[in-house]
Amino acid sequence: MNKCELHSVGKHIEAKYRRRTAESQKHIEAAQKWLPGGDTRRVSYYFPYPTFMHKGEGCYLFDCDGNKYLDLVNNYTSLIHGHAHPRVVEAATVAIKNGMVLGAPVELQYRHAEHLCSRIPSLEVVRYCNCGTEATMFAMRTARAYKGRHTILKMDGGYHGGHEFAQVNIYADTDAESFPRVCADPWIPPGVLNDILVIPFNDLDAAEDVLKKNNERIAAVMMEPCLGAAGGINPKPGYLQGMRELTRRYDVLLIYDEVMSFRYHTGGIQAAEGVQPDLTALGKIIGGGIPVGAFGGRREIMALYDPTHPRPIFHSGTFSGNSIAMAAGLATMETYDESAIERLNRLGERLARGFKGALNGLGIKAQVLGRGSTVNVHWLTETPDNAKVTMQGYLSTSELLRLFHLEMMNRGIYTAPRALYVLSTPMADKEIETAISAFKSTLSVLKPYIADQFPRLLTD
Ligand SMILES: Cc1ncc(COP(=O)(O)O)c(C=O)c1O
Repeated sequence: MNKCELHSVGKHIEAKYRRRTAESQKHIEAAQKWLPGGDTRRVSYYFPYPTFMHKGEGCYLFDCDGNKYLDLVNNYTSLIHGHAHPRVVEAATVAIKNGMVLGAPVELQYRHAEHLCSRIPSLEVVRYCNCGTEATMFAMRTARAYKGRHTILKMDGGYHGGHEFAQVNIYADTDAESFPRVCADPWIPPGVLNDILVIPFNDLDAAEDVLKKNNERIAAVMMEPCLGAAGGINPKPGYLQGMRELTRRYDVLLIYDEVMSFRYHTGGIQAAEGVQPDLTALGKIIGGGIPVGAFGGRREIMALYDPTHPRPIFHSGTFSGNSIAMAAGLATMETYDESAIERLNRLGERLARGFKGALNGLGIKAQVLGRGSTVNVHWLTETPDNAKVTMQGYLSTSELLRLFHLEMMNRGIYTAPRALYVLSTPMADKEIETAISAFKSTLSVLKPYIADQFPRLLTD
């Protein structure tokens, strides 16, 4: 197939997308008048324009043209029971009717905290904030205050939200010859860069080297136990235990960002892997769909927030611990018990197996990484074990990712453009089969394009 015909594969996909989503096109044009680019969240924008959704029900979404989608985004992992789960709606409604935020402590806060601490072994006490970004920001601040040092060691390509310190190396340093350099957009102040060090994920030697040379200035290592936004990169066997050992040996705190990964196990990845960090940042599902963040850990460290402490850390937040998030989050977690988690994780494994089968059947090489209820597809010939490899893959296959995403949308499957697939509990075997079948058909449509543009991804 020549380039001209190939171009027509993409053209065909895009034309179909435009035909199905005429109302969304009108919305984006109207929105551009009031919102820069017509959107207010980077990840929900894609070209030629995003579909405007109208309603969510269980594991389905309906767009403003009346198209129905199986929702495999689940608001980027924050929804575990899909949309409008009756028990969550009921709990949130009661909270709304009782006054949404009372400007005072309420029982729901310590009930929610009690629930979290009973699930996560390392969590003795917690504080609430409004999103995962705040949770990681406060966790870093806590470590700095406790250790009396300023530097945070983070993973190259690790994502911890939108605050300045989290923005350093959110994109892995793909130009690095060997070791990642500290890098960020030019508007991140140099003072911030001075207090961050980076290492590649899954590399204990690199961690030891940096910790040994800098431990007197490092307050904490901040890491996701499985790199989420970087493509679902799992830790190698022994890596998490090794990082725990090293952080103890070099006397720095270990902070886990389980904002995304808490959904995989009743007590997060830390419980699944038997590793106890000193501090943990949480968000997403613990609010049941309402904005929330939490950070906590050892009582002795978190005592820095006790008002009776001689020099407490100032932490407030107008909406921290608001009743709606506490009520919706508690109802969500109570209905997401061990058996619900296991069931959903099994469905996730089935989806990953189905995707692998479809790729093998069509003679196409890609890496399907999965952990529990999330699946990531990487257009790579080898399994990525750090964020640099993932990022190189994303950059070199961005048009393939875009077309794949649009064609899945054309087939009624809503996914994240970066080939992340997120499950929710209203799903059953039927939905998994639907997703696998759409994946297979999309692969068939794109195979000629892949053959021409990425022959390395074909097995024959
Ligand atoms: C691991 C991780 N940490 C932090 C955040 C930031 O959370 P939020 O978007 O609620 O600020 C996210 C969001 O995707 C995340 O995945």
